[in-house]
Amino acid sequence: MPFTTYSTHPYKDQRPGTSGLRKRVEVFRQGNYLKNFVQSVIDTQRELVGGTLVLGGDGRFFNREAIQVILKMAAANGVARVFVGQGGLLSTPAASCVIRKYAAAGGLILSASHNPGGPDGDFGIKYNTANGGPAPEKVTEAIFARSLEIANFLSSNAGDVDIDTLGTVMLDKMKIEIIDPVADYAELMQSIFDFDAIRALLAGGFRMRFDAMHAVTGPYAVRIFEELLGAPAGTVINGQPLEDFGGHHPDPNLVHAAELVAMTRGADGVDFAAASDGDGDRNMILGRDFFVTPSDSLAVLAANATLIPAHAGGIPGVARSMPTSQAVDRVANALNIACFETPTGWKFFGNLLDDGRIAFCGEESFGTGSSHVREKDGLWAVLAWLNVLAARSQSVADIVNQHWQQYGRNYYSRHDYEGVSTKKANSLMDALRARLPSLPGTLLEGVEIAYADDFSYTDPIDGSVSAKQGIRIGFADGSRVVFRLSGTGTVGATLRVYLESYEPDPTRQQMETQSALARLIAAAESVANIASTIDRQSPDVIT
Ligand code: G1P
Ligand code: ZN
Repeated sequence: MPFTTYSTHPYKDQRPGTSGLRKRVEVFRQGNYLKNFVQSVIDTQRELVGGTLVLGGDGRFFNREAIQVILKMAAANGVARVFVGQGGLLSTPAASCVIRKYAAAGGLILSASHNPGGPDGDFGIKYNTANGGPAPEKVTEAIFARSLEIANFLSSNAGDVDIDTLGTVMLDKMKIEIIDPVADYAELMQSIFDFDAIRALLAGGFRMRFDAMHAVTGPYAVRIFEELLGAPAGTVINGQPLEDFGGHHPDPNLVHAAELVAMTRGADGVDFAAASDGDGDRNMILGRDFFVTPSDSLAVLAANATLIPAHAGGIPGVARSMPTSQAVDRVANALNIACFETPTGWKFFGNLLDDGRIAFCGEESFGTGSSHVREKDGLWAVLAWLNVLAARSQSVADIVNQHWQQYGRNYYSRHDYEGVSTKKANSLMDALRARLPSLPGTLLEGVEIAYADDFSYTDPIDGSVSAKQGIRIGFADGSRVVFRLSGTGTVGATLRVYLESYEPDPTRQQMETQSALARLIAAAESVANIASTIDRQSPDVIT
């Protein structure tokens, strides 16, 4: 009897969203929580049986244990072959790359993204399909439905597999290839960017730092920046992946990457700095004394796309999530290429990328990417910036300032109200919805409202409709306020208010962001009565 069956229980407390299951480590360790998910994936995604699975994660606590569990289950369920990143590591974009390169049936990615790790932290698992992207809703719904009915799972009785030695091993009848987690990804990056030009830039005294935040991008960044591109040792900081990320939040923003931000300050500051999150899909871009908002980053990269060898012939189109600033729209308009506005979440870019309608896409939440994989990709964004910097021989600040002069500046900020009572947050949104029809044509803080709606998206490829994706209030001068409830928060509700004002006049483009947005902040309050409805005087987090 090579296989054992065990009884199981459903994880009915959480549907796997497109970011999969994300829970405390202790939840994953309870009973058959992990096994139930994995068996439900294999039961519903039958191409895995006799097919190839890609497996790896961001190295957080429980990663290794989960990999052994999954390998034994895959073997017992008849998966023919598994690619595992050495040491159990694969960044999310690298997993997407490996799935596509080896035409795997799918992949299981172990990560809770930018959430803290360790025994008291979070763990997560998600399934990506053969195109390398997060499973679409119909797949996650099928996995969830299956989890409610399965009564047992299959697992091999074989011992643990050595996942630290490169090479091929057998687990019962299943072939396991332990692969270098970086090699395929690094090769893909070399096929996209001008590595010679970046190497020359770095050799010419240009100083950069990359903060891997003790997460998965460490080995990728050391190989790419220090070994392949010749940046001096020490360019990558916090490069050693740790199971608890050194106790920090592996979240690349001005708060959690403060050590990196300090390195860009003053006359001694480095020319360029960047960071990525736990699983390597997010990015933050900094110049000397300069923060590039993710919305501006997408716009600047789109405007400079032809400087990147893989896009020398131009890009067919771009897409941004709805709350992301409209800076990229202006670039698309000038280039006369398509521009799509999609709901929040990377999955909405999948069809547009698969269909070749867009090449670049991004979200305001530090996500940028392209058609090379089907996930957002932190290191891709960093290399794209380095490629542009090398081609233009200008500073980050000069490039962004010139961009604003040419296209206008979209001042942008997101105000988050966290841990709000769900009831109050819903009543704020409901009240706003009720007011929408009466708003267009009225004045708010002296500016005319041009449109007000609850964003609905019809996918141009499969026709699927996603309604109620957030409230947009657009002003006649190009400014905008967006209200949305987070879909990823874990405690109560998180209200996100996205503020954007358009400033075409170069003499007015150097204001402090919150001051530049003061009128819109007041408009948001007066239209939604935030303070009184959710009992909050000010946001918890301002990005
Ligand atoms: C947040 C971001 C969104 C991103 C998602 C997953 O979702 O706002 O852009 O796709 O995390 O990384 P939210 O909590 O706003 O639903
Ligand atoms: Zn992530």
